Formats: sequence, C-alpha cells, structure tokens
Amino acid sequence: MGVVGIIGGSGLTRLKNLQINNRRVIRTPFGEASGPLTFGQLGGHEVVFIARHGYGHTIPPHRVNYRANIWALHHVGVTHVIAVAAVGGISAAMRSGVICLPDQLIDYTSGRPSTFFEGGESMVVHIDFSEPYCPRVRERLLQAAGTAGIAVVGGGTYAATQGPRLETTAEIRRIERDGGDVVGMTGAPEAVLAREIGLCYAPLSLVVNSAAGKSAEPITMEAIDAVMHEGMERVRKVLEQVVPL
Ligand code: HPA
Repeated sequence: MGVVGIIGGSGLTRLKNLQINNRRVIRTPFGEASGPLTFGQLGGHEVVFIARHGYGHTIPPHRVNYRANIWALHHVGVTHVIAVAAVGGISAAMRSGVICLPDQLIDYTSGRPSTFFEGGESMVVHIDFSEPYCPRVRERLLQAAGTAGIAVVGGGTYAATQGPRLETTAEIRRIERDGGDVVGMTGAPEAVLAREIGLCYAPLSLVVNSAAGKSAEPITMEAIDAVMHEGMERVRKVLEQVVPL
C-alpha cells in the first residue's frame, strides 16, 4: 500500500479533517519547500500534506519551489500524490464549480527550474511523459468521487501557464485550439518532477472561473473565492474517500 501525499492549492491550505500527528521541515538539496510537511491521518489512513503556496498563501505560482516540494514528499516515503489546484475553465463542460480529473497536460510555462536531471556528473535522462498522470491515482479519485456522491469530469487537458496574471482572450483561444480544457499555473513543472523522481501523481482540479473571454462577466477574485469556498468542500469529501491508495 502506498503513502499518499496531498498537495493543496489555492483554497486548500489545510485539510480540516486531517488528524495532525506532527509537522516536519525537510531540508532538500533544492532549498526550502513551501512549508513544513504535515503528517496525519485522513479517514484513518496516513497522509502527508503540503500547501503549495505556503500555509499563509504567500508564494505565487512562478515562485513555488516545485523541486523542493516534490523532493521532500519523496524523501519522507510518499509514493502517490494527489495535486489539488484551482483552474479556469475553457471547454464547454468546464463550468465554474466543476471538478475535473485531467488526463493530459500542455506546458506553456517558461523559466521555471523544471527538472532534477541537470546533467553534470549524471547521465542525460529523457523520461517517457506520453501519459503525464498516474492511472492508478486517477482511477482511485474517480472511485472516491463515486463513493462520496460528488460529480467529476473524468478527463481533460490541463494547460499550465506562467502567471501570475490571468491570460488574454487570444491566449485562451490559442490554448483551446491546442486542445486545452482547463488552465492553471501550477501543473507544470510539478507533474514533470513527480514523474522524474518516481512519484505516481495525478491532479484534482476545481474550476473556479471561466477562462478569459469565455464569459461576459469580468473575472473577479470575489467570484473566484465564492466558487472556491464551496468547491473545495466537495474536493475535501473526495479526498476523504480516496485513501488508502
Ligand atoms: N487561468 C490560469 N490559472 C487559473 C485560472 C485561470 O483562469 N483560474 C484559476 N487558476
């Protein structure tokens, strides 16, 4: 049985139903992680939690130390990772409030340290990333949603943008032509690093707004917060059913 790690995104800086045992700051070769790892029990099973943007939500997407976070989770014995993130919806099915389990990824980010394989003494390694996400974690998330009675869309392409600004309408049109269904700012290089280090990783995305140009309404933080608040409650219910993996 694997040890489950949960990376919490915006709106999920802590897991209310996690019975916390302890917190540990992990030293990594890549510097500081977003915060200490929280060890606890969720539904009676061991999980390790980290808030991607820091527990006070102060680290923007392009400044997250993805390498340190992933390395730290791996270091403490995590084998499977559920990566929770708020996203914008692009395709018709991805309305605000929808929970989506993406099965593909397009990386539009730039300038982020995005590999553990920096060359030097080590060999050049090209990981197979045709299927970027772990089928086993995705399958368990689908089952868990079913058990919890929470509707989810079981597929879609996650487009990772650089941020922290939101996209232009033209950028979203382009991403849509490319096949993107949802857009977020943290899915890369997080997923890449997880694969490189051997973690079985899958995203759990909550659509919190219609992406740029997809709605007549302007995108406001107030509207996003309202959807996020309600939606993350459903995400928590799914997470409670998902462990063990
Ligand atoms: N774009 C990029 N990232 C996001 C969005 C968006 O519209 N909403 C939440 N995260």
